[in-house]
Amino acid sequence: MSGSHYFTGAPEVASERRPITVSLPDVTLELTTDAGVFSRSRLDPGTRILLEHAPPPRVRGPILDIGCGYGPIALTWATRRKRLPVWAVDVNERALELVRLNAEALGLGNVQAALPDDVPEDVRFATIYSNPPIRIGKAALRRLLTHWLGRLTPDGSAFLVVQKHLGSDSLQQWLNEQGYPTSRVTSANGFRILEARPRPAGEGSESGRGTTS
Ligand SMILES: C[S@@+](CC[C@H](N)C(=O)[O-])C[C@H]1O[C@@H](n2cnc3c(N)ncnc32)[C@H](O)[C@@H]1O
Repeated sequence: MSGSHYFTGAPEVASERRPITVSLPDVTLELTTDAGVFSRSRLDPGTRILLEHAPPPRVRGPILDIGCGYGPIALTWATRRKRLPVWAVDVNERALELVRLNAEALGLGNVQAALPDDVPEDVRFATIYSNPPIRIGKAALRRLLTHWLGRLTPDGSAFLVVQKHLGSDSLQQWLNEQGYPTSRVTSANGFRILEARPRPAGEGSESGRGTTS
């Protein structure tokens, strides 16, 4: 699988749309994927763990999927929470087209697929679910997370699935240092789900929420 989709707005590889079934214990979605989009042949194992093990939103409010690809995370949560707005963000235009097409085919009117810069400045998110683009590199990933975690509501949560061998523990430590007390929700098959929450105003880093290691 080429990694070019991590960096390109418009994949060079020719389009070759295909159906894919995303089958979860509570939801089955018939979706379309395409060449040049992340894990187009099967639901990514990390994404499956996130969708099966991350808890539902802890508070009501808009949901964000950072790096949505063809949309398995955004579309699953849009199905599970039809009354909540779900934002699906990616730099890959082909991926965003797929999310729009998939949302329409599923009759989901609560999904907005957008380039990062096209999300209105004033939108805040109660919950983030993401299988983030680790392979863009540590510095770029940190910039990405700093940007979007800064748009969580004060009572919001971000659930991130990260492979242990791709640095989940150091990411957890860094998030803690950035003012997002971060705990490990689940460990499964070499993946971890981290939950990061904004530190309550007035709490210093020493007195923040406890973390698990
Ligand atoms: C690990 S894939 C996950 C895709 C999809 N959520 C899934 O689970 O199949 C990460 C995604 O992040 C996207 N991405 C890379 N850099 C990004 C950025 N700066 N902002 C938003 N998305 C980005 C990639 O195009 C890719 O679709």
